[in-house]
Parts: sequence; structure tokens; C-alpha cells
Amino acid sequence: MAETENKLGVLFVCLGNICRSPMAEGAFRLAAKNAGLTCEVDSAGTAGYHVGDPPDWRAVKVAAANCVDISAATGRQLTAQDFDRFSHIFALDKANLAGIKAMQPRGGRAQVAMLMDAVEGREGEAVKDPYYGNIGDFEAVWAEVTQAADVLVARFKADAAAARL
Ligand code: 4NP
Repeated sequence: MAETENKLGVLFVCLGNICRSPMAEGAFRLAAKNAGLTCEVDSAGTAGYHVGDPPDWRAVKVAAANCVDISAATGRQLTAQDFDRFSHIFALDKANLAGIKAMQPRGGRAQVAMLMDAVEGREGEAVKDPYYGNIGDFEAVWAEVTQAADVLVARFKADAAAARL
């Protein structure tokens, strides 16, 4: 088995890849850094509207207020290769979960789940699309993706420790 087949890799997927998923990526990077967890982290959109675009300025502003610079991220669309490149793909809402599953190749290694499944009591819930909202909606997204990222990082750290036993 190639070594990459076992490697932890986490991909966050929303619709446009300019609001929620780059924020989730940034929050997860911060949590992973703080916990000393190394893994590949990226984000993508199920739609191609914003391929090549930077994140929405409101997402950049809210991440920066939380000490995370996401300004260099570039919108991209989910690909079939992502299902082998990443061990975990997290959807930000149900429509995107359906979009991801519709692309999922047979035999891909990625486990696909809703991001908020990680948070007790929030299973199955969406991180709401803030695109037509205000800065407060982006702040709410940051709080939710941070909550989920913290749980996931703790889980992955525990898995890594158990695998070393
Ligand atoms: P995201 O938000 O999926 O969180 O990146 C959106 C960004 C752009 C659009 C919709 C949602 N749009 O329709 O262009």
C-alpha cells in the first residue's frame, strides 16, 4: 500500500469555496497547529462559480479577527481525485453533501460526512450560507466551524495516539 493511502487529509466543501469552506479550512489549520497535528488540509466548492477567486472579503476579515490569514486561498472545484487525496471530506450543508456523494467514485478512500456531525447535539445540521448575509452571519460561521474543528482535531490526535500504542 502506498504511504499516502494511510495519511490523514481533510477537505472542507461548500458551494462556492469563498465563504464557509475556506473559513473551516482556516479554523482547522489553527486548531491543528495549536495541537501539533500535521495533516493535509484544503477546501473546495461543489460549484465552479468562483474558481480562481480569493475568499469573500467578509470571510477574510472574520478569520483575520481570529488571527487566521485566509487571504491567499483560491477557489477551486471538487474533483474526483479528491476522494483519494483526502481521508476525510466534510460537507458544510446537506445540498453540498449530496453534491459530494454524487461525485464519489466507487472505491475512493475518503469518508464523507457533514461537518457539524462532529459537534454533539448539532448532528446533521448545516453551517448556513452567509453569502447573502451580513458580517454577523460570517461570525456565526466562524464560531461553528471552530467548534467542529476543535472536536475533529482532538479526535484525530487521539486516533494517532491510539495507532502508536
Ligand atoms: P460558500 O458561499 O458556499 O460558503 O462559499 C457562497 C458563495 C458564492 C455563492 C453562493 C454561496 N454564489 O452563489 O455565488
